[in-house]
Amino acid sequence: MSNTGIYGDHLPVMQEIMKQIEERVGLLRARLKEQYGMDPVEHCLGRIKSEESMREKCRRKGLPETTDSAITKIRDAIGFRIVCSFINDVYVIRDDLKSMEGFETVAEKDYIRHVKPNGYRSYHLILREKRGYFVELQLRTISMDTWAALEHQLKYKKTLSGNEELIIRELKHCADTLASTDISMQTIRDMIYGDQ
Ligand code: GTP
Ligand code: MG
Repeated sequence: MSNTGIYGDHLPVMQEIMKQIEERVGLLRARLKEQYGMDPVEHCLGRIKSEESMREKCRRKGLPETTDSAITKIRDAIGFRIVCSFINDVYVIRDDLKSMEGFETVAEKDYIRHVKPNGYRSYHLILREKRGYFVELQLRTISMDTWAALEHQLKYKKTLSGNEELIIRELKHCADTLASTDISMQTIRDMIYGDQ
């Protein structure tokens, strides 16, 4: 194996693919802003999974720590998080990304309509670029993103003080409260801007 890291010679192409996605999201944002006067995206963050996390994930999945595993087996070497203003924007952006030339959809998980038992909400889309590179996109609202970020922080502390069940229940309650606020905010938005 080369000494350039787990992605070997693939890094420049991966960066090019990231740029392509960024441009696509940028174009859609500009178009919708022009059309409706509103930017559907709060922020869009792309990253290439760090060497360390990729190796850790290979081990976790029982895969050898090779370039092949990182590129062809693990599907989030390239990852995007697209945080939207309103719930409906998630689906507008999803549709646009799915129709991107040179990419095909290989997996989709709608954790917004099918909420995870812990309360996690997000729309996960995995695209495959024509040369075989995978891109994982997580689309969610600001509220969903806030919850996921805080829950992720809390997960780090593994030894809970005996009230684990209460904590799980409270986290789920927070997720559901935020989700209900998201629905209200969508309704308010539609009242102001019309149901477009
Ligand atoms: P991985 O093996 O991590 O790829 O998970 P998976 O194959 O079951 O895929 P899934 O689409 O469920 O999760 C992919 C990513 O979504 C994770 O790496 C997290 O970034 C995020 N995610 C999924 N579930 C949760 C959750 O319960 N809480 C938080 N904070 N993030 C989550
Ligand atoms: Mg994943």
